Amino acid sequence: MDRVTPEARNGVFKHKGIYFDYQFTSPEIIDAIEHVLIRDSDVFLVTYPKSGTVWIAQILSLIFNEGHRNGTAHSENGTRITCLEFKADYPDFNSRPSPHPLSSHLPYYLMPRDLRLRKGKIIYVCRNPKDVMLSSYHFRKLIQSRKSTNWETFIESFMSGKVLYGSWFDHVRGWYTHREDFNIFFVTYEEMKKDLRSAVLKICTFLDVNLDEKAVDTVVEKATFKNMKDDPLASYKFIPNSIIDQSKGDFLRKGIVGDWKNVMTVAQNEIFDKVYKEKMGDLPIKMLWELNEETAS
Ligand code: A3P
Repeated sequence: MDRVTPEARNGVFKHKGIYFDYQFTSPEIIDAIEHVLIRDSDVFLVTYPKSGTVWIAQILSLIFNEGHRNGTAHSENGTRITCLEFKADYPDFNSRPSPHPLSSHLPYYLMPRDLRLRKGKIIYVCRNPKDVMLSSYHFRKLIQSRKSTNWETFIESFMSGKVLYGSWFDHVRGWYTHREDFNIFFVTYEEMKKDLRSAVLKICTFLDVNLDEKAVDTVVEKATFKNMKDDPLASYKFIPNSIIDQSKGDFLRKGIVGDWKNVMTVAQNEIFDKVYKEKMGDLPIKMLWELNEETAS
């Protein structure tokens, strides 16, 4: 681990280039992950934080359990899909059920080595970084261990990667440019907003899961923003107040595309676009949110 830094006093540690929160994980856990043995039936949901993790977690949970939700209908989606690097969730991997979807916010190079042999399946969810940044800014206010900061300062921290899980740009670039090493499917938050049913069907195809029409309808219905927000088992209300103070705001905050436009000034947006172009401009992809922003709401 890197030497103790001022961040450590804020409950944050830097390990292998990435910032983590001691509240949730430790250097030992991160190191152990590399050696986790992967089965072909394993399914991972990987995201940079605030890209829609709980949303796809809900969808995966429904895809795997709908119609036979015995034993899962009454548990929160945080326990139905456990997070690879969270202390509280760290399971005995060797005795885990299969298939058992797991989530992670880790960069590609900290994930279990076996995944690079194209064992298991990964669903990577990507969201317009400006909306990710705004969502992170609001979420940070709820995290008890984080000091409050202002929007201006947060934008700078986000753009320079001095935030939990490091740089959004490095995360997306890393996973995208190493995609051939993994059995991975990319989906964007924006395309899910635009047509949730199509996104669910694509995910089912990738997972080789055949759901009948009615089951697909149920997945889509239970994964809408409103229904998830109203469902205490899907809205992350179970997270203890000592960790996240939900009296200050909800985990499921607005759930819309393009909220950044309500907050970023023209100057802030221009600077962000410049950095985006420098860091991502050479990638041979037109990010899907650029195509969908006009039509999604
Ligand atoms: P906002 O803060 O913009 O509302 P994560 O799960 O990765 O932490 O991401 C949280 C973001 O996903 C929040 O964004 C949250 O509202 C949004 N989200 C969660 N469930 C959603 C749903 N069913 N539909 C749309 N957005 C959802």
